Amino acid sequence: MLTLGDIRKRFGATTAVDGLSLQVSAGEVFGLLGPNGAGKSTSLAIATGLLAADSGSVDLLGLGSPTNASVRSHLGLAPQEITLYAELTARENLLFFARLYGVANARRRVEELLAIVELESRANDRIGTFSGGMKRRLNLAAALVHDPKVLLLDEPTAGVDPQSRNRILELVRTLARAGKTIVYTTHYMEEAAKICDRVGIVDHGRMLDVGTVAQLVTRHGGHSAVTVSRGDQDERVLTADPVAEVTRQFAVGGVTGVRVESPDLEAVFLALTGRSLRE
Ligand SMILES: Nc1ncnc2c1ncn2[C@@H]1O[C@H](COP(=O)(O)OP(=O)(O)O)[C@@H](O)[C@H]1O
Ligand SMILES: [Mg+2]
Repeated sequence: MLTLGDIRKRFGATTAVDGLSLQVSAGEVFGLLGPNGAGKSTSLAIATGLLAADSGSVDLLGLGSPTNASVRSHLGLAPQEITLYAELTARENLLFFARLYGVANARRRVEELLAIVELESRANDRIGTFSGGMKRRLNLAAALVHDPKVLLLDEPTAGVDPQSRNRILELVRTLARAGKTIVYTTHYMEEAAKICDRVGIVDHGRMLDVGTVAQLVTRHGGHSAVTVSRGDQDERVLTADPVAEVTRQFAVGGVTGVRVESPDLEAVFLALTGRSLRE
């Protein structure tokens, strides 16, 4: 659906994207996980055809580069910086984008979108009064006005409370089930683990590895830790096979408690970069 081939982009002395490649398949939620400054937003801007790479290739749906407007029309972008008009209502904002994209039956489409992002009851309110989560949902709806096949979501949960975050994550899964192909950037590994079919780990403008969370954890996550308590004595054992270790400990006997810590994307990021993803 979307292929980036060895893209590079410098801003003066800063290398933002340093030979990044990715291939996103139809119907998947593909996560770009990396810290601030990793080059995620720049990569998405290049993927939309709105920012020119210094080198490398972009192909959308086998149609060629999205620098071509007719190719680009299959793509929707919800930018990291919210691009809505605070003085307009939710409905007016969506109508503005629907008309900008030349959407047929713009009014009907806007009502559909208000329902999809569950903002019907606030349709007539100016978005200057909205919470961070409501603005994010409307920003996402604006990317959908022309019903694109591929949706690029750049940090769609930035600046929202945990409850709104879950709502947005559910919305993304719903859109994927409805057939959208989604590229999702985040620096929150819990989010990537929760909703992405595959994750690419990005740092310093490079794709360090790509896979399902399970594949990445198996490749780079290292060992699980099994902590076994016998009365007030704790023993911590590192193992690749925690189930076997727990079984062995029970066979020895006297176990009063067991705790298993499995490696996650944080361990993967640490193994790949030598740094923690948590700021
Ligand atoms: N327009 C720009 N001008 C100069 N530097 C930029 C510009 N856009 C991004 N950068 C730099 O490129 C690097 C990657 O930025 P970005 O793609 O925004 O990363 P991310 O989205 O992963 O946080 C950062 O060092 C950033 O400061
Ligand atoms: Mg960014």
